[in-house]
Amino acid sequence: MNPVSPVHRAQAAQARCFVCRTVDESPAADFRCTRCGELLELSYPSWGDTPVDPRSLKLAWEARRASPLAIDRSGVWRYRELLPILSDVNNAVTIQEGNTPIYDLPRCARSAGMDRLLAKHQGMNPTGSFKDTGMTAALSVANEKRFEWVACASTGNTSASMSAYAARAGMKSLVLIPEGKIAWGKLSQALDYGATTCQLRGDFDACMRVIAEVVRRAPVYLLNSVNPYRVEGQKTAAIEMLDQFGWELPDHVIVPGGNLGNVSALGKGFIELRDLGFVRSVPKVSVIQAKGANALVRTMRETGGARLVPVQAETMATAIRIGNPASWRKAVAVLKATGGACEEVSEEELAIAKAEIGSDGIGCEPASAATLAGLKKLVASGFVQSADLVVLVLTGHVLKDPEYTLKFHRGDLFDNTESASKMRRPPIVLDASADDVLRVLDRA
Ligand code: F0G
Repeated sequence: MNPVSPVHRAQAAQARCFVCRTVDESPAADFRCTRCGELLELSYPSWGDTPVDPRSLKLAWEARRASPLAIDRSGVWRYRELLPILSDVNNAVTIQEGNTPIYDLPRCARSAGMDRLLAKHQGMNPTGSFKDTGMTAALSVANEKRFEWVACASTGNTSASMSAYAARAGMKSLVLIPEGKIAWGKLSQALDYGATTCQLRGDFDACMRVIAEVVRRAPVYLLNSVNPYRVEGQKTAAIEMLDQFGWELPDHVIVPGGNLGNVSALGKGFIELRDLGFVRSVPKVSVIQAKGANALVRTMRETGGARLVPVQAETMATAIRIGNPASWRKAVAVLKATGGACEEVSEEELAIAKAEIGSDGIGCEPASAATLAGLKKLVASGFVQSADLVVLVLTGHVLKDPEYTLKFHRGDLFDNTESASKMRRPPIVLDASADDVLRVLDRA
């Protein structure tokens, strides 16, 4: 059986520098421009010669949902005409990523002062985070190039995702993580999927420095989001979101920001859809950071986006404990092109928002909850109106970091405040007696 593919295009991607625009025929191992050292991005010159036809593509994408083939059912490879990065799409390594749900969050909507609030839950991907959509793309390229080893620096989710996809492809994986600063759920995934896992005495930014040197000195394929193929995979979340909305646009899309690959990818996705004629305009894409890891917020506030202001990062939302974000230039470009905002939230605001998302029966990992905490600020400042249609991108699954959740509900996360206490639901320890349990019910 052949994949549903009425408009097959072979590999057509061109890597060029995001800043000096030099085309790089064979990118360096660290994916930095050989002329100026900035990041690369992929473009598709052939789209100019033979325009993409949105109508026939939408029909093909719809048909693929009913196909029995994994490559068609994948929420990334279904949209492969917009990421022609493989010579042969049968080289794709897929665990049926994407296809993530959009949920209503009625209680969160009330708490944020919105008529309605939606969340696209990227934590419902195979390894529990949005990283899978980018990983299937970039690791498939490594597979096609016949690399034996892949590697990444990570705050946990990238490593979980990479090691799973590497295992599926029969490749070896090397993970560098900051010692003691990643959630157990994520570390345990890397171990289970068979990665060679190194905990470095240093933070994520130090891990990034080391991995860049490792890939320059050994034949290892780098899978951080500086790899532009990761961005191509992650941009499909934007395509899938609009597909789910019947090609209508929300007013706002809000994402948490760490290394800033995700905002870069979603922004690229929306902008390409507009340029190719799928939609007329783009949603405002906003980024929320933890106050203790607010490099983009400071970059915008203090330099208008002209120069990165790195910070010494500290936050309990370990996924976004990043002070020197690699994709800051791309993120600034997305904020400017879409008219999005950039906000910061305190540890307490973030923890309360996480418990509120839990109250809607959805749940997410701490970093994802920055979106709701940030939305409240954007509503208060008037940037978001109560009638606007807002989509929060929840980036990770609630089970990634159960320790954080337990500490919050037990009151051990930080000095307890009144607002946090209202959201705490600690477990109640009792004797094994129905009377005692019934007394709890009476009090509740
Ligand atoms: N949310 C979660 C759950 C994450 O794991 C990350 C990043 C982010 C948000 C921020 O996304 O970096 O694209 O701005 N995690 C990376 C990792 C860095 O190594 O897993 P970003």
